[in-house]
Amino acid sequence: MAAPAPLTTLPDPSEAELIASRPHLSRHAMDGLLMDGVPLNAIADALGTPTWVYSVPAMRLRLAELTAALAGLDAHIHYAVKANDHLAVLRLMHDGGAGADVVSGGELLRARAAGIPADHIVFSGVGKTADEIRLALAEGIYQINVESPAELETISAIASAMGRIADIVLRINPDVDAGTHAKITTGKADNKFGVSYTDAAALYAHAATLPGIRPQGLALHIGSQILNMAPYRAAFARAAELIRILRANGQTVTRMDCGGGLGIGYGDEPAANPAAFAGAIRAAFGDMNLTLMIEPGRWLVGPAGVLLASVILTKADERFMVLDAAMNDLIRPAMYDAWHGVVPLAPGNAGPERDIDIVGPVCETGDTFAKGRRMMPVAAGKRVAILDAGAYGAVMSSTYNARPLAAIAMVDNGRWATIRARQPVEALWSAETIPDFTT
Ligand code: LLP
Repeated sequence: MAAPAPLTTLPDPSEAELIASRPHLSRHAMDGLLMDGVPLNAIADALGTPTWVYSVPAMRLRLAELTAALAGLDAHIHYAVKANDHLAVLRLMHDGGAGADVVSGGELLRARAAGIPADHIVFSGVGKTADEIRLALAEGIYQINVESPAELETISAIASAMGRIADIVLRINPDVDAGTHAKITTGKADNKFGVSYTDAAALYAHAATLPGIRPQGLALHIGSQILNMAPYRAAFARAAELIRILRANGQTVTRMDCGGGLGIGYGDEPAANPAAFAGAIRAAFGDMNLTLMIEPGRWLVGPAGVLLASVILTKADERFMVLDAAMNDLIRPAMYDAWHGVVPLAPGNAGPERDIDIVGPVCETGDTFAKGRRMMPVAAGKRVAILDAGAYGAVMSSTYNARPLAAIAMVDNGRWATIRARQPVEALWSAETIPDFTT
């Protein structure tokens, strides 16, 4: 698939438009940029920068909106933990009625540590290890989404040895182009995910004969940051057709996991509409007597987070604005050419606009948050917020260039709390040893 044109070629929404379309953000004449009534500068004063800040009301509201869109369907939200795996975020999702979609033993244990019951957890992923499968069965999770014949055999052997029955669904690869960035498209035949939908009926029948395995249905997930419903409709139609075939063959099919992937508006592109998504699910599966599931990540948490950074300096006549946040903190622009809004925290940032390259201090040209962004320069020592960083932000951070993991704060209607302290730099080498033979 050809990568979509980089979003940076589109006209940029203005700062006022970016703030107006994010209800948890507002601008105060004295305090500058606020999140849910908390001046973001106050958090940066207390914690330093770079610091992530997440809005509780934004996450709650988004979960409630998606839940409402699914009303009338026997449909359950399994929040994709990979998007933002902080315990407080997971707890909030659980309190709002969501389960979890995990892709590793680590995520499974995180979800459990946050209080999500095992039977609200589904386990996806193309390469689950034997230890991870054992953990999932020991915990008694709701289902394992199986992605290959080899994995099916492994689960059967492990479940049999443990005297357990594994509830599984088969993740099919519907060979549908989700129309998103090539690095996050997952439902094309040449992507590594799932089993070909043409092989699925035979594999499902085989699964039903295996000891320790109870096939319950199908799953699919065609990609991420999907803005258009047409690929969903195409994929769902293939799954519905397959379910009819399976049932006609005498198989039991009780569940359909419709995956995640709902996109958000980073710039001025319209976000995926939950009602339209629910409509596509209803049209395909509404009358099939199935327990339905979805696995959204980004849509629930992306807009709810910002990354605060300070301007270290500007150079080349303010063409470059060098921040103290970098690609090790937020890798999305470097990895996917992703567009993120960048707005100043202080009130009254005045002066003529110009095209600015907003960069980090890491020694790579790819360490660029925005290229040629039309805005007023922000002076050294002042701060900016990088918007829509609540999904695939902190979770994808590294410590490249020996840069410790940033602090995280959470706000809720005028209150805020630190939910992760900045990593002490010594932690970066605390597990390292220098062997005798090198000295
Ligand atoms: N279910 C499965 C099986 C997945 O692989 C994913 C995401 C999701 C659900 C949740 O997708 P969402 O609703 O968040 O789109 N790091 C990339 C995104 C990678 C998505 C991977 N899979 C980014 O920053 O754009």
